[in-house]
Amino acid sequence: MDLAQLTSDLQALRGRAVDAAATAADTAALEELDISVLGKKGELTAVLRGIGALPAEDRPKVGAIANDVRMAVEAALAASRTRLGGAEMAARLAAEAVDVTTPGRPVRRGSLHPIVETAREIARVFAQFGFQVYEGPEIEDDVTNFQMLNIPPDHPARDLWDTLYLDLDGRLLRTHTSPGQIRVMHKEQPPIRALLPGRCFRYEAVDASHASEFFQVEGLMIDEGTSMADLKGLLDQFAHAMFGEGRATRFRPGYYPFTEPSVAFDILCVICNGEKCPACSRTGWMTILGAGMVHPVVLRYGGIDPERYQGFAFGMGVERIANLRHHVIDLRAYMEDDLRFLGGFR
Ligand code: DAH
Repeated sequence: MDLAQLTSDLQALRGRAVDAAATAADTAALEELDISVLGKKGELTAVLRGIGALPAEDRPKVGAIANDVRMAVEAALAASRTRLGGAEMAARLAAEAVDVTTPGRPVRRGSLHPIVETAREIARVFAQFGFQVYEGPEIEDDVTNFQMLNIPPDHPARDLWDTLYLDLDGRLLRTHTSPGQIRVMHKEQPPIRALLPGRCFRYEAVDASHASEFFQVEGLMIDEGTSMADLKGLLDQFAHAMFGEGRATRFRPGYYPFTEPSVAFDILCVICNGEKCPACSRTGWMTILGAGMVHPVVLRYGGIDPERYQGFAFGMGVERIANLRHHVIDLRAYMEDDLRFLGGFR
């Protein structure tokens, strides 16, 4: 190895390395180049290993050239790093760019189911008159659902409720919320002002006006001297709160085994205002609930002395109240999952 050979090897290495730095495709290639030329086991070190074979006076010259080569390659690497690094950053920024002017996707707010909303509104109105909310079980026994409500086995009034019986020693799915009256009487002493919302079940062929599952709200008030006049006043206030101050109301005689006397409570038709339309079966009136003075037999089953206390009760279908408030005609909509319907009430 002589000086001329070493010098030309170094110049060749410089030319190759500077070219490679200039044409590298990315910064990863530059790092590889850096290591393979300038690293401890790199080409420059390998060339310099020949230096020991030179005469002593030539060694500094080669050292100076090698230094020039190192600086030239480092400069080429630095220039390419700047260029490629900038391009890579720009590409990443472009790829990860977020268009802040894109309109956001609307977030859908949940809402109460119209039946829940209506039941709560009913409870809110009666709460103003001191009624407190209770709940009875959906699985009832025959005794509480019927017998203690003055409906003995084989009584023809049982035809009013098509019952779903369970294979559990005389138990059934409650056909109405009225058995809750008995449960409240067993639990509380008069004065009682109870409101009992809940799901009820009947063996029904489902159509626009019949459901096998539906909601009722039951009311019960028991005190000394409670009268039909109290019932009428309360229900009038309720109808006005739910359907507007001016809504006309009327009481008609009705029949329920657990009340005596029994009434049906009507409001002037919300569709035709008494003009007589198909929605009110051309009567001009719509029945919104059944009510009456609690039968003395029922009070006695509830453990309350009918000589001392009187009471009234009422029961209404929540779907029916919701229908009349929102002018819905098909009950089935409440059980289906169309959010355009269910979310459209508020
Ligand atoms: N339980 C009755 C039904 O399901 C509704 C009812 C009528 C409840 C009169 C009452 C009442 O408390 O006094 O048809």
